[in-house]
Amino acid sequence: MTAADFTDRQKLPRHIAIIMDGNGRWARAHGMKRIFGHREGVRAVRECAEVCAELHIPYLTLYAFSAENWSRPREEVNALMRLLVDTVTAEMDTFKRNNIRLNAFGALDELPVFCRKGLSNAMKETIHHTGLTLNLALSYSARNELVHVVRTLAERVQTGVLKTEEIDAEQIAASTYTAGMPDPELMIRTSGEKRISNFLLWQLAYAELYFTPVLWPDFNKEHLYQAISDYLTRERRFGKTGEQIQKI
Ligand code: IPE
Ligand code: IPE
Ligand code: MG
Repeated sequence: MTAADFTDRQKLPRHIAIIMDGNGRWARAHGMKRIFGHREGVRAVRECAEVCAELHIPYLTLYAFSAENWSRPREEVNALMRLLVDTVTAEMDTFKRNNIRLNAFGALDELPVFCRKGLSNAMKETIHHTGLTLNLALSYSARNELVHVVRTLAERVQTGVLKTEEIDAEQIAASTYTAGMPDPELMIRTSGEKRISNFLLWQLAYAELYFTPVLWPDFNKEHLYQAISDYLTRERRFGKTGEQIQKI
């Protein structure tokens, strides 16, 4: 498949979210240390960003490091932090060539200083890009995000700028990390695991879920095209009947 196979661009998802999983198992299968799996995974990140840019999909969110991942061995956490900065720096050409804007969300203040600096430099350098927004979920936990939302709204009520009865789904969405972005319509998880692992719990309410056994370092453009074409076969009902949807 190629990008040209997707003729009806209107139907494409506007936001794809990916749980990039299986780096450790990939490394073990190749007789290497876990970090080599993470390093190999960078190619998959590049390919997915390129596909989304080619197809004019405006948002791609990648789960790069969860709040729970801090409890991994220190050596792995350090190597991941280093890899993160090296990657966003090394991929600046990819971002420029494809008009990609880099964005990051999560408990970013928990990242080491060199990491925050590297990220914020890359974000500043790409801020004027108008194509794909590439979100990296870092030190991210959906439950912690909801805590942040509740605190934000509570403070606004406390200071009198918001009334309790004005709190609705729209207000909540506007206080999430993805405020102003469409919710992901397609969520992909690699490596055969079939769980959400504390990822975008609010935003995934109506997402189509796609699970593949492919390990993240092996995931390529063709796999993403497959996932998108599978998404295009789904009937998205939003509570209505199939007949109602087919009439539209
Ligand atoms: C996903 O791969 C990458 C991160 C969580 C950072 P894993 O490292 O979870 O790989 P497995 O699940 O151990 O194979
Ligand atoms: C989820 O993968 C987090 C990321 C991909 C960054 P994990 O491998 O950490 O998730 P669990 O522990 O298997 O649920
Ligand atoms: Mg994993």
